[in-house]
Amino acid sequence: MDQEAGTTKGHHGPSGAIQVNRANAPEFQTCGIRMLGDTLNAHIPTPSDCIPRWRADDPDTRMYVGDCREVLANLPEIGQVDLIFADPPFNWDVPYDGWSDDMSRAQYERFTFDWLDGCIEALSPSGSLWVNIPDDTAAEIVMHLKRRGLVMMNWCVWHFRFGQHRDSSFIMSKVHALYFCKDPNSRTWNPDSVLEMSDRASIYGDKRTQEKSSNKGMRVPMDVWYGKYWGRIQGNNAERRHGHQNQIPEVYLERVVLSCSNPGDLVLDPFAGSGTTCTVARAHGRRSIGIEQSEVTAASAWERVTDIGMKRKNASVGGSSAIFQKRSSGSSR
Ligand SMILES: C[S@@+](CC[C@H](N)C(=O)[O-])C[C@H]1O[C@@H](n2cnc3c(N)ncnc32)[C@H](O)[C@@H]1O
Repeated sequence: MDQEAGTTKGHHGPSGAIQVNRANAPEFQTCGIRMLGDTLNAHIPTPSDCIPRWRADDPDTRMYVGDCREVLANLPEIGQVDLIFADPPFNWDVPYDGWSDDMSRAQYERFTFDWLDGCIEALSPSGSLWVNIPDDTAAEIVMHLKRRGLVMMNWCVWHFRFGQHRDSSFIMSKVHALYFCKDPNSRTWNPDSVLEMSDRASIYGDKRTQEKSSNKGMRVPMDVWYGKYWGRIQGNNAERRHGHQNQIPEVYLERVVLSCSNPGDLVLDPFAGSGTTCTVARAHGRRSIGIEQSEVTAASAWERVTDIGMKRKNASVGGSSAIFQKRSSGSSR
């Protein structure tokens, strides 16, 4: 069974979905998928000098202030970015400083396709792209990236438990973490750097996991992410940066950065917000670029990236996400 080469078939083949995505990638580019955003003209960026507002060395870290559709198109590193993490405005009428989060649906889709295209151009041939997005736009983003020829590696879910109560439908408790790459064979993928305890080790006391030749009692995390430090950043959370909307937990970015980049690689976030991506990238020795349209927001993010730093370095690694207590009998099931 050669899982790396994607020859595993059937429900038990963990590479099955990747195999299907990879095989179908060429057809998605030519089958003429149409979405609402396609009814509007694409944004045409203006050529400009691309000067970062702030810059720090060792590792090279930069923050640009501006519309990411413009900055991405004018970056000196077009085609050289190793990893992009994007957490865009969701068009939920959030009061961002200087940004209208209340577009028509067609405008929002057009905006989404435009910045996605900018990211695709900025990525290196071996680069990976992650998008954090809720239910209402996940499908459109997946279809756009597929029709642009990218391959979906994982459709992860960030599960949190503080969704606002409503009785009209089930309570929202997740956002999608979409993981795409240009080339599954050449992408950077470091599973050993993000291992967590397996349920066999942490619940069942199963001896077999301790008999493995390496990574005893550990596994690559599942594609649903939750647990200690994975909740929304609210209240008196140590990571919280006041004045920022929708801050993402450090553990989330740490898992993405460690698994999909190497020290010295270039990581980019087109919607920097409070600066979580650059903070984590810098703490782990990656070069990074943040882009943020609000001067005020970007200034605060830069303070976090360069002066405050990561609060919970390595908290995403080595723990257990088990949902049951350890069994006393040592059952193997
Ligand atoms: C959801 S927040 C990002 C939060 C971030 N992931 C964090 O952990 O703090 C989206 C950010 O994108 C910024 N933004 C909105 N439109 C933008 C654009 N066209 N270009 C650059 N930044 C933009 C907003 O000002 C806001 O700070």
